[in-house]
Amino acid sequence: MSKVIVHADKATAAKAVAATIRDLITAKAKASQAAVLGLATGSTPLPLYAELVRLHREEGLSFRNVVSFNLDEYEGLSGDHPQSYRYFMEQNLFRFIDIRRENTHVPAGISADAARTCADYEAAIVSAGGIDLQVLGIGRTGHIGFNEPPSALSSRTRRVHLDEVTRRDNSVFFGELSLVPHGALTMGVATIMDCRQVELLAFGTGKAEIIRKTLQTQPSADCPASWLQNHARCTFHLDPEANALL
Ligand code: F6R
Repeated sequence: MSKVIVHADKATAAKAVAATIRDLITAKAKASQAAVLGLATGSTPLPLYAELVRLHREEGLSFRNVVSFNLDEYEGLSGDHPQSYRYFMEQNLFRFIDIRRENTHVPAGISADAARTCADYEAAIVSAGGIDLQVLGIGRTGHIGFNEPPSALSSRTRRVHLDEVTRRDNSVFFGELSLVPHGALTMGVATIMDCRQVELLAFGTGKAEIIRKTLQTQPSADCPASWLQNHARCTFHLDPEANALL
């Protein structure tokens, strides 16, 4: 059963999730273990990443023992493309903290064999010991990662086609719809369900309807985020606007 926390605003939500991540990293470091984080891109996690950077700079939080796996990457974009998710992570988080680059993973947007790349990504997650904590946003189609409807509960890391709603929503970053890739590589729903803890953030009125559908309809492939209702340890962090229809 998912838990819902309505925060005063997105800054407060970001601080709460950042504190959870700090506590995980600290506990793992004490046990001489790596903390394995699943990371998301997009507008939603930006205040979270800003707070993690602050914790690093002002409170000495080290990311030396963190391994990260991002949810997804646009097909056809290399890591140095300004709209790629590898580039996003570098610009918004990695360059400001002490994470080892070799410990950061983002699916390769360009590869000779996408199926192989996806299978290797799943294997890398397993060999890191699985993901301890996955950060998620949610798309207006109900996607988590780029698992657009319909996405089966059993889906794994794979190539997907982006919904036109998602392409339009993300065109703000590209400046023009025609520049938004049609495909992506994404962790699957099963990959996300395997994470030991999930922290989903959703902010603003634009997310209110999909949050209602996600939490108040029967879990199904038509709203991939709704599968999270069955996750053993999943928290939805909302601001009052995203909570408006619950
Ligand atoms: C990003 C991702 C997506 C976004 C979602 C919301 O890595 O996998 O599921 O979390 O599209 O995007 P924003 O936060 O820009 O509204």
